[in-house]
Amino acid sequence: MKMNTAVIHAAQKHDPRTGAHVSPIYQTSTYVLPDFDEAVRLNQNIDQGFVYSRFGSPTVAELEEKIASLEEAEAALGLSSGLGAISNAVISQVKAGDHIIFGDVIYGCSFALFTKILPDFGVSYTIVDTTDPNKVAEAIRPNTKVIYVETPANPTLKISDIEEIAKIAHQHEGINLVVDSTFASPYLQNPLVLGADVVVHSATKYLCGHGTAVAGIVAGKKAFIDRCRMPFLQCFGTVLSPFDAWLVQQGLKTLAVRMERHCENAMKVARFLEGHEMIEKVYYPGLESNPGHQTAKKQMRGFSGMMSADIKGGTDAVRTVMNNVKVFSLATSLGNVDSLIQHSPTMSHFDMTLEERAAVSIFEGQVRLSVGIEDVDDLIDDLDQALKLAKK
Ligand SMILES: Cc1ncc(COP(=O)(O)O)c(C=O)c1O
Repeated sequence: MKMNTAVIHAAQKHDPRTGAHVSPIYQTSTYVLPDFDEAVRLNQNIDQGFVYSRFGSPTVAELEEKIASLEEAEAALGLSSGLGAISNAVISQVKAGDHIIFGDVIYGCSFALFTKILPDFGVSYTIVDTTDPNKVAEAIRPNTKVIYVETPANPTLKISDIEEIAKIAHQHEGINLVVDSTFASPYLQNPLVLGADVVVHSATKYLCGHGTAVAGIVAGKKAFIDRCRMPFLQCFGTVLSPFDAWLVQQGLKTLAVRMERHCENAMKVARFLEGHEMIEKVYYPGLESNPGHQTAKKQMRGFSGMMSADIKGGTDAVRTVMNNVKVFSLATSLGNVDSLIQHSPTMSHFDMTLEERAAVSIFEGQVRLSVGIEDVDDLIDDLDQALKLAKK
C-alpha cells in the first residue's frame, strides 16, 4: 500500500463479532483464559494472546501494527507517552558502565533523562552536534551502546543526516542508532529505511494530530521490540491505554492530508516571518538559507509544520506576542490541527541552563510555532498584528 492508503487501511480491523467498521475499544484490564494449561502457555509466551492489558491489548496492537507498517519496521510498541517510548528504547539497551551519545538539541525532558537520571545508574554520556557526523564518530568509545538523534530537532529544527550517522554507528559492533522522528512523522521521514535501528515518536503530536491523547511509539526489529515489551514495559508499566491508542488510530487516518497542509502553511509562515522587521532569525529547514535544507531535502518528503523564530526585543516582545495572538494558542505541545505558540526556554527546555540553551541557539527571545492547518492568511494576519504590538 502507498502512504495515503496505508494511513487509513494498514492494520485496520473490522469487528468480527458485530461487523462494526471502526474497531471497538477493548476497555478491559484482564482477559478470560480458556483453561489452566492455555493460561500457563500464554503467560509463558509459548502461545500468543491477550492476558492482561499491561502486557498488551487488541486496540494497542492494532495501532502498533499500523505504525510498524508506516515506518517499514518489523514491529512496534505503543507506550503511555513519547517519553515512555524514549526511556524504554534507551534503557532497554544500557547497563551501568555503558555510554550513550546524543545530539545537543533534543527535547528538554529527553535531555533531563540522559543528563540527570541515567548517570545515577552508571550510564555516562557525551553531547555532540549531530549535524556533523565526524563529531559523532569522534565521540564513540568502546562502551558506547546508543547514539540518539532527534531530527528535525526541538526547538531549533536542526537536521542531522540519518544515513551518515547510521553508517558510523554500524562500523562498531553493538551500537544502535535511535532516532526521535516526532517532528517529521512517518509521512515525511522513515529513519529505519535510512539505516537507523530504532525510531521513536511522541504520538501525542502529529500521529494523533488533534491534541486529544498522550502516547508514544517505538518501532524497529522484532527482537528489539519484544525485549522492550518484556521485561521493560512489563516492569516500568508505561502502558498505553486502549482509549488513547484508539484516538491516535483515528487521528492517523488523516495524517497524509494534515501533513501536506502543515508543510504548505509552514512554508508560507516561514517566508512571511523571514521578511518581517520584528524577526531576527527564522529556524525552518524548508528555507533555502537554513543550514539543514539540503539534508532535509535528501531524507524528508516535506519540511513539517514546526519552526522557531527569534523576535527582536527579547522576552518583553515575546510576552507581547504570546499574550496577543488570537488564532494561535499559547500552549506547549505541537502537531495539532490548531496552531500553537510556545516559549521554548521556559516551556519545553527549562531542564537546560541558560548557558546550555544559549550555546545551541535556544535564545530567551525565541518562540516555537506549531503551524496548524487553518487558512494560512489568518495565521499570518494573527502573527502580524501581535508583532506590530510588540514593536510599539
Ligand atoms: C521531539 C519530542 N520528543 C518527545 C517528546 C515527549 O513526548 P510526550 O510529551 O508524548 O511524552 C516531545 C514532547 O514535546 C518532543 O517534542
